Amino acid sequence: MFAKGEEFCPLEDDRDLLIEKMMASDGVVFASPNYSFNVSATMKMFLDRLGFVFHRPRFFGKTFTSVVSQGIYGGDKIVEYLDFVGGGLGFNTVKGCCITAFDPMTEKEKQGIDRVLAEQSKRFYECLMKPAYPAPTLLKLWGFRTARTTIKLMLDHGNRDYTYYGDKGWFQSDYYYPTRLGVLKNAAGSLFDVMATRSLRRRQS
Ligand SMILES: Cc1cc2nc3c(=O)[nH]c(=O)nc-3n(C[C@H](O)[C@H](O)[C@H](O)COP(=O)(O)O)c2cc1C
Repeated sequence: MFAKGEEFCPLEDDRDLLIEKMMASDGVVFASPNYSFNVSATMKMFLDRLGFVFHRPRFFGKTFTSVVSQGIYGGDKIVEYLDFVGGGLGFNTVKGCCITAFDPMTEKEKQGIDRVLAEQSKRFYECLMKPAYPAPTLLKLWGFRTARTTIKLMLDHGNRDYTYYGDKGWFQSDYYYPTRLGVLKNAAGSLFDVMATRSLRRRQS
């Protein structure tokens, strides 16, 4: 699935329908309970089915956030994980939140949860209203340049990552989508390309 292409995956489920729905959305929220200090098995299965998208990201210009519910402890790390996942899929990520809801809840605790969710909704809305294609951070730029240089030098037309990057024009572009990098980020981008090329050549020799 990673190398040949996702359409060769023999599993039959609603993966493509869910991807279609996300592609048709301006924003998405991934929500999961904290089960044994991780996302639920259902959420993990969904993320695994999206595994190829981490190689071939596509949800650019869309807003992402996460919500984790839990009984006691451990959810903050899961929120961090889900937000990282959102970035990897291509989304503009708004920091998620973790809701602790241990029954029975007092009125004050319920109000606290409502407040956290209201703040979260506000941040999500603000991101939706911002330019959809922001200039990347240096870290994101580094990630793009390193990935595309690696794919260009290590793979060929027989690999779907290579043809996907080629079809998107990513071997020539500044970033995943058109953006103004400015002088410093332009220079940093060129440096990242050179660093990745050198590191790969060194490993090959
Ligand atoms: C199998 C299982 C494992 C759980 N593990 C944790 C945990 O590690 N930490 C925690 O704070 N809550 C844990 N909980 C509590 C749930 O996160 C909490 O009850 C959640 O809100 C349940 O959502 P649900 O009703 O959709 O299952 C666990 C619950 C279940 C059923």
